Amino acid sequence: MNHDIIEKNIGLMIVLIIVAISWGGLVEIVPLFWDKNTNEPMEGLKPLNAVQLEGRDIYIREGCHVCHTQMIRPFRAETERYGTYSRAGEFVYEHPFLWGSKRTGPDLARVGERYSDEWHRAHLYNPRDVVPESIMPAYPWLFKDTVDGRVTPKKMTALRTVGVPYTDADIEGAKAAVDGVREIEALVAYLQQLGTIMKDKQ
Ligand code: HEC
Repeated sequence: MNHDIIEKNIGLMIVLIIVAISWGGLVEIVPLFWDKNTNEPMEGLKPLNAVQLEGRDIYIREGCHVCHTQMIRPFRAETERYGTYSRAGEFVYEHPFLWGSKRTGPDLARVGERYSDEWHRAHLYNPRDVVPESIMPAYPWLFKDTVDGRVTPKKMTALRTVGVPYTDADIEGAKAAVDGVREIEALVAYLQQLGTIMKDKQ
């Protein structure tokens, strides 16, 4: 029997297992490259403005994504707590994705407009001031340091080459828009837009 040959030859078995698993994976993944649901931007999706974009980079620099996900799974326990589940079309302009994999703190995919700017500022200055049992670190330096706008146009140009629709005017105005903005303001501007595109959707 042919199967006998495979079962008694570990090298051949390994090769055939790799072929079988690769084929199975490709069949699931490749069609998604052409599926509009997964590669077209959500209706109304806009690229982050210059200040929000710098806020996002501060979010990455401070490692916020290590404790917070931005990905709501389609389970009742998640949608009841955080809001409607995440759709692929929300992330088309995200480079890199900040879905995260570990939740030491809550998911932030829909945190935009849930709290006031003042709440965020107080929370980031010292989380214990607003949530006494919080284990989140404090970020007091964000209130001192300002954003350096010299590289913002370059970041936007780089994003444009991978498909984010920034206009020439967006890029030209970027330096002036962010220069001198305090880091806390940029970060809060970024947080306040998270998930707002799905506000009225289920
Ligand atoms: C060590 C893990 C950790 C890190 C790093 C961290 N957080 Fe948190 N975060 C938490 C925990 C735990 C909570 C829940 C308690 C609280 O609200 O403070 C939280 C809560 C929050 C909330 C409130 C969410 C809600 O729905 O109530 C926001 C907003 C937030 N964090 C933003 C940030 C930002 C921005 C950064 C990076 C500057 C950051 N976090 C870094 C652990 C973390």
